[in-house]
Amino acid sequence: MGLANRIGAVALAVACAVLLLGVACRAGQTSEYRRLLGQAIDMPLDADVFRAPPGHNAPQQVHITQGDHEGTAMIIPWVTTVEPGSSTVLYGTSEDNLNYSAKGKHSQYTFYKYTSGYIHHCTIKKLKFDTKYYYAVGTEETLRKFWFRTPPKSGPDVPYTFGLIGDLGQSFDSNVTLAHYESNSEAQAVLFVGDLTYADNYPYHDNTRWDTWARFVERNLAYQPWIWTAGNHEIDFAPELGETKPFKPYSSRYHTPYKSSGSTAPYWYSIKRASAYIIVLASYSAYGKYTPQYKWLESEFPKVNRSETPWLIVLMHAPWYNSYNYHYMEGESMRVMYEPWFVKYKVDLVFAGHVHAYERTHRISNVAYNIINGLCSPIPDQSAPVYITIGDGGNQEGLATNMSEPQPSYSAFREASFGHAILDIKNRTHAYYAWHRNQDGAAVAADALWFTNRYWMPTDDSFNDA
Ligand SMILES: [Fe+2]
Repeated sequence: MGLANRIGAVALAVACAVLLLGVACRAGQTSEYRRLLGQAIDMPLDADVFRAPPGHNAPQQVHITQGDHEGTAMIIPWVTTVEPGSSTVLYGTSEDNLNYSAKGKHSQYTFYKYTSGYIHHCTIKKLKFDTKYYYAVGTEETLRKFWFRTPPKSGPDVPYTFGLIGDLGQSFDSNVTLAHYESNSEAQAVLFVGDLTYADNYPYHDNTRWDTWARFVERNLAYQPWIWTAGNHEIDFAPELGETKPFKPYSSRYHTPYKSSGSTAPYWYSIKRASAYIIVLASYSAYGKYTPQYKWLESEFPKVNRSETPWLIVLMHAPWYNSYNYHYMEGESMRVMYEPWFVKYKVDLVFAGHVHAYERTHRISNVAYNIINGLCSPIPDQSAPVYITIGDGGNQEGLATNMSEPQPSYSAFREASFGHAILDIKNRTHAYYAWHRNQDGAAVAADALWFTNRYWMPTDDSFNDA
């Protein structure tokens, strides 16, 4: 070997060592937490959480979601089972004086041999920001009262606390997740990343499990808006049963304010809430070039004003970055289509579900690849979002425990436990994020860090474990 070659070999070895050291420094963590592995079993139909409220034709399954783009409207759905009853919501800012009313509509749907109850939807509008409203549904003898708080008007430094839940289902573990989330008194709304009831796992997609699920979650959903993302368990496409209209039970029961963001379908839309701009994408609706979702998203990103809503958050069901051996690469085709926009417009955080476990990535992107150049590895990118998979709500399918090894360098933390997360936005630059596994007390965070905003303070934040 000539001298030049020797120098070259040494340089190469040093370069490799530096590279390896760099990779080692940036290596992610696979949690060593050991939980008791057991099956996630659905709660039986006579479980107390599924009980219908007492009284003739009493409204049940009350759940609210944001009703417009700005946060001054609320969609209030509920179900009556004996007869339609009233579709009117009474509301006001004093518990004893519900001096406003809004009239909604009701409808029914059938699925194979199941016929739904009377599903009411009423949108109340022109609400004041940051105000506690009381509301009532039902008729006089079975009037049921609830309350909610509208978000503060959007502004760059308006604090707000979101819960993150995905793939919830209705198992005993689902109940633990919900109770664990409820123990956090600061959370004001939930960003839900899809897969609600898992009714489609039952024979004939037993739609009574849509009813039980909605009765189970009413204790939180009647008081806090949950922002809906459609998952694969919402598709309910069953040609063998004569059911060929996708999303029939889901879209009959869970409305979204899609029209107010210029969307043409309820599965992709956006809202503003306090200092956050939330874009909801549909993993199971067409997203290729020229499709309605593509055209909508293309025109949506330039509308985001980071001086008004600094935090740009995207929800979807199938994750783009996932190092578990479940649903591997199912999000890949959407990533190929949309990731360049996520980097260009500096999305802060992407939350997905689908994989029944927890994972957080570093800030990485993978947008250099074209069919010729072979550049197909994710690389560190401070303009890119952190991707969080939080499909660990606790449904009957159980945990995804099998991980790819070694842990890819883009993966910062992963653990196969049920849980939920809290995103506590403090101001335009900082948000505190914490993931809570179900086995811990409410105050314990199993994965926590400070995120800095990509527009206002794009520092390297994903190693900065709190
Ligand atoms: Fe899923």
